[in-house]
Amino acid sequence: MSDDTIITVRGLKNAFGEQVIHDGLDLDVRRGEILGVVGGSGTGKSVLMRSIIGLQVPLAGEIEVLGETMIGREEDEAKNIRRRWGVLFQNGALFSTLTVAENVEVPIHEYFPFIKPPLLDEIASYKIAMSGLEADAGPKFPSELSGGMRKRAGLARALALDPELLFLDEPTAGLDPIGAAAFDELIEGLKQKLELTVFLITHDLDTLWAICDRVAVIADKKVIAVGTIEELLALDHPWIQEYFNGPRGRAAVAGLKGQ
Ligand SMILES: Nc1ncnc2c1ncn2[C@@H]1O[C@H](COP(=O)(O)OP(=O)(O)OP(=O)(O)O)[C@@H](O)[C@H]1O
Ligand SMILES: [Mg+2]
Repeated sequence: MSDDTIITVRGLKNAFGEQVIHDGLDLDVRRGEILGVVGGSGTGKSVLMRSIIGLQVPLAGEIEVLGETMIGREEDEAKNIRRRWGVLFQNGALFSTLTVAENVEVPIHEYFPFIKPPLLDEIASYKIAMSGLEADAGPKFPSELSGGMRKRAGLARALALDPELLFLDEPTAGLDPIGAAAFDELIEGLKQKLELTVFLITHDLDTLWAICDRVAVIADKKVIAVGTIEELLALDHPWIQEYFNGPRGRAAVAGLKGQ
């Protein structure tokens, strides 16, 4: 693994029963980039993310994250590696019985139990502010938030432990275009200020054009191409052409040029 590669996946195979999801999947994520991950629904984007973060044990393959292999690790070791990334799951996965501030405090408490209030509350407030939520969101429960606010609360929790690496699974799904654009800007700003690397699964063409340095395309159980969108557009693959050059793809480009 070279110095500027932060995630390396080689020969990944995943299956559920007879259903093979990945077969011989390779992928590199470079330090400091926002890598967009696209592919049709059910092609295994979320399963890929779960494999990389160690929640899904693959049938075969090698995965290295931050210079460490996750497969076959003892729980204590895995926990130390996990501390170095933050995850925003596709369904949000906030604890519904905890307030936003308490949600953010969960990972801090898990890793640094000696940090007590008021310092704990201050750290949570800082992460909440960094995620673009008003301070009054802290005492609210997830059910009291809008979809966009819930995404930001999930982001605040993902940032709780000052990660080097951020995994985002469909962060702008369900947001209106203005909310989605604001979320994109937030991610781009955080990437620059915190020098984050971002693994970003998305269907959102605007997001891909606006903030992704490179895009990986999953099809046929593999990553079939990785590159800038311009590089992908030069490829003659029907799904890639349909996706980026179809009406929605062209609308995203027109929107960008109109900015
Ligand atoms: N725990 C599981 N048990 C059985 N099948 C699963 C499990 N998790 C995922 N799958 C199956 O694996 C396939 C890939 O799922 P995955 O969630 O990775 O798709 P995706 O690319 O993220 O799709 P979407 O864009 O809709 O989020 C799907 O067919 C799904 O039903
Ligand atoms: Mg998914």
